[in-house]
Amino acid sequence: MEKIIAQGAEASLIHKNGRLIKRRYNKGYRSPVLDKKIRLGRTRREAKILDKAYKIIPVPKIISVNEKTSEIEMDYVEGKKLSDHLDEFKENDALKICRMMGENTARLHNHHLVHGDLTTSNMIYLNGEKSQKDFCHAQKCKTFLDTRNCKFLSAKNSKGIFKQKEKKLYFIDFGLGFHSERVEDKAVDLHLLKQALESKHFKKWELYFSEVIKSYKSECNNSEKVLSQFKKVESRGRYKGKH
Ligand SMILES: Nc1ncnc2c1ncn2[C@@H]1O[C@H](COP(=O)(O)OP(=O)(O)O)[C@@H](O)[C@H]1O
Ligand SMILES: [Mg+2]
Repeated sequence: MEKIIAQGAEASLIHKNGRLIKRRYNKGYRSPVLDKKIRLGRTRREAKILDKAYKIIPVPKIISVNEKTSEIEMDYVEGKKLSDHLDEFKENDALKICRMMGENTARLHNHHLVHGDLTTSNMIYLNGEKSQKDFCHAQKCKTFLDTRNCKFLSAKNSKGIFKQKEKKLYFIDFGLGFHSERVEDKAVDLHLLKQALESKHFKKWELYFSEVIKSYKSECNNSEKVLSQFKKVESRGRYKGKH
């Protein structure tokens, strides 16, 4: 069964048999040749960055890419989109999620990947359970660190059956992502995230963002330089606002 779950500015998102198809459609106002070129470029770029990011943080796994139809087929992430749900969490849980945001961002930046559109609409929080067979090595541990952003994994023995609570923050929508070593690009990524929190989660955005920055600092190899550039980006923004 196919279900259109979102219709963005340039793509339809279709949920089909546990998978997600992102289909970039043709825009009537562009010439067909140019249109095809742009769609192909963006599809390739998103697939390339998604593929790289998959080795670093939780992102949907690509299943296939169809360049003819400008489609990327990927895993459907069952979870809560943060733009709709972040403010519903208890404050402590919301802050943990913000730490995951900072951590994911720092890990991407450590590999010189810039997301380009860091908003809470492009983040899905998964609070799921996995069966023991996926994590046999955990049997001896009560709590352990998974390599892929599962700091809050815990193993419980209830009637001899181990279960892990797995909490992950997925980043999606790498359509504007790119490879860059420049601190300026990384600082702008943080600036966009700050703006997104400020506009969408305005009641607690300052608390949220300070948590993002704390975990960014502890995870990023080059946080001092990025954060000092971030201050410059911010002051440019204020200057522009006044004139
Ligand atoms: N892999 C996925 N799993 C679950 N939902 C997804 C996935 N990819 C996208 N979505 C949903 O579709 C929406 C739009 O997708 P996105 O890739 O962000 O495209 P756009 O460029 O239109 O913002 C997301 O906000 C999210 O709700
Ligand atoms: Mg999006």
